[in-house]
Amino acid sequence: MANVIVIGAQWGDEGKGKITDLLSRSADVVVRSQGGVNAGHTVVVRGQTFKLHLIPSGILYPNTECIIGSGTVIDPQVLIEEIDQLKALGVSVDNLYISQTAHVTMPYHRQIDRASEESRGEYKIGTTGRGIGPTYADKSERTGIRILDLMNPKHLHKQLKWTIDYKNAILEKLYNLPPLDSERIIKEYLVYAERLRSHVVDSSLKIYQAVQEKKNILFEGAQGTLLDLDHGTYPYVTSSNPIAGGACVGAGVGPTTIDRVIGVAKAYTTRVGEGPFPTELNGNIGNLLCDRGAEFGTTTGRRRRCGWFDAVIGRYAVRINGLDCLAITKLDVLDELEEIKVCVAYKIDGVICNHFPTNASAFANCEPVYKILPGWRQSTTECRSLDDLPKEALRYLQFLAEIMKVPIAIVSVGASRDQTIIVEDPIHGPKRALLDANGIPVDMF
Ligand code: GDP
Ligand code: IMO
Ligand code: MG
Repeated sequence: MANVIVIGAQWGDEGKGKITDLLSRSADVVVRSQGGVNAGHTVVVRGQTFKLHLIPSGILYPNTECIIGSGTVIDPQVLIEEIDQLKALGVSVDNLYISQTAHVTMPYHRQIDRASEESRGEYKIGTTGRGIGPTYADKSERTGIRILDLMNPKHLHKQLKWTIDYKNAILEKLYNLPPLDSERIIKEYLVYAERLRSHVVDSSLKIYQAVQEKKNILFEGAQGTLLDLDHGTYPYVTSSNPIAGGACVGAGVGPTTIDRVIGVAKAYTTRVGEGPFPTELNGNIGNLLCDRGAEFGTTTGRRRRCGWFDAVIGRYAVRINGLDCLAITKLDVLDELEEIKVCVAYKIDGVICNHFPTNASAFANCEPVYKILPGWRQSTTECRSLDDLPKEALRYLQFLAEIMKVPIAIVSVGASRDQTIIVEDPIHGPKRALLDANGIPVDMF
């Protein structure tokens, strides 16, 4: 039995969907703990592409139970579209469960998200425009609508009438937008409620029962460590906690339930939206990474900003999440490069800094210090073991493991489920305790 958290170790889009799908083979239950339809997780199986926003990537296995947990925010319209798309592709959603205490994204959340971004001008965050921040803000303000409320028509009517009047005042007076029609919204959401009703459960109880039955539970992260509300590059973050600790809070399990934490990182770095990005590449190499990596957002279609791998951020992700091991994805995207840079430290005001600076202006003005490694200039997409990899690619991975002091358990060399190298059992493999005296993983390669 093992309960495993999979989290993004960078700014999201690391390939969590692919890795979760891969690991779901041995999972009985897959749980999404936080985030909403800002997430876009792509899974490619035997040439077929699945794009998931809220439904856990374990859904492609018929016997795996998938739970959308309490810490998520649910846009029912998008969720229903996602369910319908999966059904049309022949995927059963009978095993999909929705937490009754998750919060609901309403039309006014989407509108306020977009209007507030517009009004920020040059200070905009570059959100996905999916109403995520405003939904979580209402949750904190204790004016949110929960799935439970949605399931109770009388109560929903009363609660929404009051809330929509309140939100209309904001829309009209602050943003100069037309008011929303509360009766129309209530009617629309009651239809969604009936579509979703059979999936609604007490999710933390269901997860607890699975723990008691010694089932294997996988917690699928959304977004990434640097987008964490508390520990990311605030204010250019999302409004939930994508770090490993957030998985426990959002799912409603105690930390002692967790056996292992796996971080997913690309072999380079990407970021969507605004905010500092020290290793960003604006020229030809950035364009090459974007083209070869097909770096366009799953949710918004926006071009992702690309840059070199940042090991300072990597070390930070190891620390903040207590990572046991890493899955490195998209190694193949680097295949054509003559040389590859890795940021090993920052220079801040002329001083070398090995740690991620939590001071936002220090981070925004830091200068990356690079180590240059040779490229391999040959395809890795057919490699299925470390022995198949060119020696420079192996050296590159080894360098990443050494500099972040964490073992690499999985290497991904293509979007497809089978384009994967399993270096060591990512779930039961050696723990971080098996580092040598210098903190270097033993017997990795
Ligand atoms: P997530 O949000 O972390 O699940 O990541 P996304 O699905 O948004 O973005 C990752 C993209 O890279 C998707 O289009 C994946 O199909 C693709 N991908 C995942 N692993 C690899 C890989 O090893 N190589 C390549 N070329 N593409 C990959
Ligand atoms: P997955 O799960 C990449 C980014 C947005 C923006 C910031 C805030 O696919 O990795 P929000 O709409 O959440 O208020 O936007 O966070 N962002 C993501 N970037 N991958 C994601 O999810 C993201 N979810 C949010 O681009 O910069
Ligand atoms: Mg994504």
